[in-house]
Order: sequence, then C-alpha cells, then structure tokens
Amino acid sequence: MAAGKILPTFFLALFLSFLAVLVTFAIRAQTLCRRSILVQDIEQSLSDAKGGLSGLWPTSTKRSDFLALLSDTHLQQARRLPRFTKHGCLLVKLPRELKSALIDDYRKRRWQTPASPEPEAALVEFSSEDQAPLLTWVAGSAPERKLRGWLRVALARWSGLSELEHTATYGVRTYRKGSKLTPHTDRFMTHVVSAIVHIERTGLGAEGDWPLHVLPHDAPFVFEARLGGEQGPDCLFYESCTVPHGRLTALQDEEYSNIFFHYMPPGWGKQARDRMGEETSQ
Ligand SMILES: [Fe+2]
Repeated sequence: MAAGKILPTFFLALFLSFLAVLVTFAIRAQTLCRRSILVQDIEQSLSDAKGGLSGLWPTSTKRSDFLALLSDTHLQQARRLPRFTKHGCLLVKLPRELKSALIDDYRKRRWQTPASPEPEAALVEFSSEDQAPLLTWVAGSAPERKLRGWLRVALARWSGLSELEHTATYGVRTYRKGSKLTPHTDRFMTHVVSAIVHIERTGLGAEGDWPLHVLPHDAPFVFEARLGGEQGPDCLFYESCTVPHGRLTALQDEEYSNIFFHYMPPGWGKQARDRMGEETSQ
C-alpha cells in the first residue's frame, strides 16, 4: 500500500475504534442508570411495605384449623421445605407505571380475543361451567417481561436469596362470581418465592373485597390479604411452597383478575427433592 494511503486508513480505523468505545460506554451508562432507577424503586416499595405483617388482617381461624384443610402433600411441603423470611409473606405496592402498562396490555388482548374458560383450573371451586375462571395469556409481552424482571430483583432482596430464576408467569386469570380457592401450597419444584399481582375487579358491590387467606410461618391465626384500591397494596410476596393460602369466602362480585409470577433459587431441584424424599411435584 502506498504511504499516502496508509495514514488516512490508520486515522479512519482509529476514529472507528473511538466511536465503538463511545457507543459501548453510552450503552453501559444507560444500563447502569436504568438499573439504579430499578433498585431505587424496589427499595422504595420494600420500605413502604414496612415489613412484618403490616396491612394483613388477623382472622379468628386458627392455624390448626387451616392446616387441616390442606392435602397431605401440601402439608408436608409446608413442614419440610426451607423458609427464607420470618413471616413468609409481605404486602407491596408496585410502581404505578409498571402495573398500568400491564393492565393496558391485558385489556387490549381481552378486547381483541375473548378470554378462554379454564374449567380444569386446579383448586378453584366454582358452581357451574359458566363460572369457570377465564384465562388471558399475557406472558412474553413487553410489560410482562418488565414487571417479571422487577419482581425477580425485588423478591430476591426480600427473601435474602442472592439469585432467583423465573420459572412461570400464569395469567391473567379472571375468577368469576361464586368462586373459592381451596387452601394449598404451590408446586414445590418450581414455585418457591412468588408474587400475586392484582389486576382489576368488576361489578363491585358493597362487599367488594375478596380476601386471600394466608398462614404466615409464625402466626397462630390465619390472616387476610386484601389487594387493590387506589392507595392500598396491589401485590403479595409470599413463599409459595411453604405458606398455605386460599380464599375461603365466595367471590361476591362479577370478576376478579390476578397474574402470578413464580421463581426459585438456582439448584433448588435437588435440595427440594432431598427434603421431600421420594414424593414428586403435584
Ligand atoms: Fe397458589
């Protein structure tokens, strides 16, 4: 190559390398900034939640009476598998923009394609076929992925587990009038720490609340978690394979919609199988 061409080529290569470094730096700075905003939001939500059983309402149902409603497998899970937090559950208010993007996406999908009935829904009690829960699939959408990522970090901070893997997003599931939910613990191979996010309810009457009954690790009584409302918490963090939960009263209103996110720590399978012996996931 002629000496006259070597110099411009060298400077061009130098300029392109400089540009590449600049772009990489800008992307990295943006990612770090986004991450720091995410962590700030999480810290805010966890500190607003105040910890403990704040926001949960004690009922007169005794621990032993609630445990008696569980199947043997579910009871064994609650007794044998490790626990990660003091109480096993926490009410949280999600950042508004994360939640509203998910709700907008859900409403659009439901309007475009009517939700399909889910007559085989395990553990949901409903009186007739036309009261079966409805399922609107939103997993994989941009708002679902964003909320899933936020919850992964938030649940890890809450539970003290350094890493969590997302194992399932289920819903949006819409329960219909008259539904109840049999007390249970979730499938232990994949559902370790989870979040129930309330989406919306319709046909609200005076008795609009449809409480979720939960049995915290250390409580002598069952507690009620009420999700929704303008100011109130809209999400329950819970240790899903060890905290028994259900809905003992029938839904009085037309519809009540939730979405469920499940996570487990890496390497959980072996630990869980060892603790549960030869029993398999339900
Ligand atoms: Fe459950």
